[in-house]
Amino acid sequence: EREPLVLGIETSCDETGIGIVRGRTLLANAIASSMDEHARFGGVIPEIAARAHLESMTPTIERALADAGVTLDEVDAIAVTGGPGLAGALMVGVSAAKALAVSLDKPLYAVNHLVGHVGADLLHGDGLRPAVGTVGELELPTVALLVSGGHTSLLLVRDLVGDVELLGETIDDAAGEAFDKVARLLGLPYPGGPHIDRVAAEGDTQAIRFPRGLTLPKDMAKHRYDFSFSGLKTSVARWVEKRVAAGEDVPVADVAASFREAVVDVLLTKALAACADLGVPRLLLGGGVVANARLREVAAERSAAAGVELRVPPLSLCTDNGAMIASLGAQLVAAGHAPSSLSFGADSTLPV
Ligand code: KG4
Ligand code: ZN
Repeated sequence: EREPLVLGIETSCDETGIGIVRGRTLLANAIASSMDEHARFGGVIPEIAARAHLESMTPTIERALADAGVTLDEVDAIAVTGGPGLAGALMVGVSAAKALAVSLDKPLYAVNHLVGHVGADLLHGDGLRPAVGTVGELELPTVALLVSGGHTSLLLVRDLVGDVELLGETIDDAAGEAFDKVARLLGLPYPGGPHIDRVAAEGDTQAIRFPRGLTLPKDMAKHRYDFSFSGLKTSVARWVEKRVAAGEDVPVADVAASFREAVVDVLLTKALAACADLGVPRLLLGGGVVANARLREVAAERSAAAGVELRVPPLSLCTDNGAMIASLGAQLVAAGHAPSSLSFGADSTLPV
């Protein structure tokens, strides 16, 4: 029996992602981003993102089909991000998915965006190489650390399509958001993560000891491994303000390197603590912040020291994309799950 051909639609933030997979084989991963339109505002503007999804949807679907060399008729199922994400943006993807499912008479599967990031790791295909680690099957259970401009979540994944537990999430800014805000106060362009990374390469990671905020007040944290980045951001702002008030130059490279070190430290300390506490010797990274060179480097070092197997999918599958959604859809089909009813709606706070 042939593995299911699944088309996945992702529109939770600023990327219109259309992926096509056959089982675990990646056939196409077409992406249109509206980031250029948000850049001048210094953040993603939900209405602009939703409108851009609407305009990009048909051309991106056509591009994915051409890349995969398949027609819509051949597709066995449609998968779509049901949430979490920006409500208006999600709605465009969900509407497109329903329209396709109804008109083609194919089953429709709504999936969780965060779990989709983990599903990306199942995929193999021409030229796909993990960003860190070796090629091989994803073993479960695994802890997954998902870090982007919109989310910072720690999951325990026992079964991709049935048993995923939220271990922690940010109670304020997402990790990527913290990078973007600190970049802004250092006068670097948006999105700031790549610029902090570039500037930090010339700086001293130990120059300034910014607070980690590793333990959160009990009344603020809901989960054992929740994160908080607003205190760190504020302490960077205060440090820079003091320098400026004293008429001194701001050592941008040192601030960037020390800030990046603090974020990387917090993320990996909590993720590896979860691995140790739960007795799970596997850690998977996903999300746009995985593009950070220092995060991947320290993750590799500390995981090795802790006897934890580190998995980092190719960067093209770490940032938001439709292939990861298609991958999860294929798993749902393979596991014999019932399709979603056509009455489901986009859910901006969909739990895992
Ligand atoms: O997953 P993604 O492409 O989009 C969503 O947030 O949905 O992630 C983008 C985020 C931005 O906040 C960006 O600043 C951050 O990831 N980012 C980085 C780096 N590259 C992108 N953060 C730190 N270091 C980087 N090299
Ligand atoms: Zn994401």
